[in-house]
Amino acid sequence: MTAAVAPLAPDLAAGLRRLKLTAMRQLAPELLITAKTQRWAPEELLRTLVEAEITAREASNAATRMKTAAFPVAKTLDELDRSACSIPGPTLDYLATLEWITAKENLGLVGPPGTGKSHVLVALGISAVHAGRKVRYFTAADLIDALYRGLADNSAGRIIENLLRNDLILIDEAGFAPLDDTGAQLLFRLVSAAYERRALGIASHWPFESWGRFLPEHTTAVSLLDRLLHHPNVVVTAGDSYRMRQARERGGTTLNKK
Ligand SMILES: Nc1ncnc2c1ncn2[C@@H]1O[C@H](COP(=O)(O)OP(=O)(O)OP(=O)(O)O)[C@@H](O)[C@H]1O
Ligand SMILES: [Mg+2]
Repeated sequence: MTAAVAPLAPDLAAGLRRLKLTAMRQLAPELLITAKTQRWAPEELLRTLVEAEITAREASNAATRMKTAAFPVAKTLDELDRSACSIPGPTLDYLATLEWITAKENLGLVGPPGTGKSHVLVALGISAVHAGRKVRYFTAADLIDALYRGLADNSAGRIIENLLRNDLILIDEAGFAPLDDTGAQLLFRLVSAAYERRALGIASHWPFESWGRFLPEHTTAVSLLDRLLHHPNVVVTAGDSYRMRQARERGGTTLNKK
């Protein structure tokens, strides 16, 4: 059948190319034949072409959002073994509705290594991208690095404003490395700018009462937590490391991280 499909008239093809209606341009030759042989109403042909273009655009936008989100790994909520996860099912179900993102609430995930914090953070981010939201993932270290570079050329404010174009900003591994005063202030600036404007998701192996250990200045730590925890969904993970559990199950002696 495809062999018999005549190409679009050059002026139509050029017009659709100019308007960047790629899916329409590609599908039109075949659809024109189908419409003719099946005696579609003219409106039906137009609708099919428009729907095809919209579907293709949405897929392409989703792919772009997924790329700019910069997730380090692809994890989904379906891959999470709930029986091995200390987060209660109803809490996971609520987080999976993504309503907290619309409400510009925050998510704090704290708990020991290997208990699924990053997995849940990334999985929620990925489902937000699928739901049409803009998301940006960072480790705290990478975020602070980016803001530090902004300090050098006076663009930290602009970087923060650009970050706030996302619906959800994810900050993983907060507290892995202690922050200096400037780093803590930069983190505070972001949390403060996002406060009640955007949803933040932060994961840390330090419980909130210990954040003073990596935030050097007491008042910054207090003010930061005050904003972070005003509209929070705090999830505490617990138990053995899933990595260790898998390593034990494999019976291996080498414990590869991740
Ligand atoms: N309940 C679970 N079901 C399936 N996989 C899990 C579960 N919990 C953790 N994992 C997997 O175990 C590994 C470690 O989990 P994750 O990276 O989320 O831990 P973490 O809490 O972020 O640890 P860290 O504090 O060291 O960063 C990942 O590969 C993750 O996908
Ligand atoms: Mg992690």
